[in-house]
Amino acid sequence: MERVRLGVLGAGNIAAMNMRGYLEDPRCDVVAVCDTDEDVGRQAADDWGASRFYADLDDMLADDTIDAVEVLTPTHLHHDHVVAALKAGKHVSVQKPVANSVEDALAMQAAAEAAQRTLRISECFVHYPPLELAKRLVADGAIGKPTSLRIRTLVGQTDSAFQAGLRMDGYRWRLDKRSPGGHLFDDMVHKYAMALWLLDLGITSVQAVVRRRDYFFEPCAVIFEYEDPEVLGMMEVQYAPKFYMRSQYYGADEFFEITGDEGQLWVTRATGEMLDLQPVMLFTGTERERKTSEIGELIMSRLRRYDKVAYVRFASVYLDFKDVQEFMAELKDLLKTKDAAEIKGKSATKP
Ligand SMILES: NC(=O)c1ccc[n+]([C@@H]2O[C@H](COP(=O)([O-])OP(=O)(O)OC[C@H]3O[C@@H](n4cnc5c(N)ncnc54)[C@H](O)[C@@H]3O)[C@@H](O)[C@H]2O)c1
Repeated sequence: MERVRLGVLGAGNIAAMNMRGYLEDPRCDVVAVCDTDEDVGRQAADDWGASRFYADLDDMLADDTIDAVEVLTPTHLHHDHVVAALKAGKHVSVQKPVANSVEDALAMQAAAEAAQRTLRISECFVHYPPLELAKRLVADGAIGKPTSLRIRTLVGQTDSAFQAGLRMDGYRWRLDKRSPGGHLFDDMVHKYAMALWLLDLGITSVQAVVRRRDYFFEPCAVIFEYEDPEVLGMMEVQYAPKFYMRSQYYGADEFFEITGDEGQLWVTRATGEMLDLQPVMLFTGTERERKTSEIGELIMSRLRRYDKVAYVRFASVYLDFKDVQEFMAELKDLLKTKDAAEIKGKSATKP
């Protein structure tokens, strides 16, 4: 398939952000939009240059000119929408959380296999370059053997244009019985995906204490056990409703910390810009400080060009995203010249 002709299902709050990658990729044509809210759907079709608007999914699925469907409807509808699109012969990309139950998710996977079509779960954090870099540094031994992972999320307020433009309708289904865990479920799915992906290890048990106040975002502390018993994972969520933080998007920020026998990595500024830190920091101890900062400077000089990193994080990746590909190729070259021993700051001449 040379070009993907895309139909978009759901043009709500996240849709404009999600569509940017598709609209910028020369191998994709956004041809149709479907939304039960006609004003929202028609406006989106207009904004994205899509020639057709449908108020009903079945009508869009009957359109033979559509190859693939991007599902951006509320989570509790994902199962029915994805299965219908696959049965109609379309390839499908669906936003996280994939569904409200494991049973529904497995049924969606089975439907994709039966239809012999691609089903992609869109997990945008794996495309945030600082996290991609951190994963690579861990795999290359930059912090030695990993022993723990800590992920912290702080949710507050921001005055970004994106936040100001959010429609309240998009919050109703998250906060009533249509969602199994409100905001907490909706957002922490990302962080759980990172806990699995960053260390490339399976999780064998999860223990959590979850408090609930108004919006189900209240203090929450989680401990993960991994299949490697020498590794432990921790996740925290804090909610500070009257705290304003810098952000171009939602009023939230994340902090990732990976510790190994020989050092520590921090990743920040995924959603917001609360901390005045570089988005990736590698620490390997005072004895090796000089070399650590040398390699850190090289990495940062490349990352600085990515002042749009938060935008890249949201780029749709149904198709390759050029900037990210180039960025990763550069990092590969960098890591080839500075091998893992150097990254850790070890002297090449040391016996
Ligand atoms: N990747 C991320 O960082 C991220 C961020 C936010 C939301 N999401 C996920 O994206 C999905 C959408 O979230 P949102 O915030 O845009 O929600 P939203 O409620 O703002 O938008 C949903 C849109 O779907 C439309 N819709 C509802 N039922 C429909 C139907 N039967 N047929 C056609 N259209 C229908 C609504 O009218 C609305 O315009 C959710 O699964 C959410 O969890 C992901």
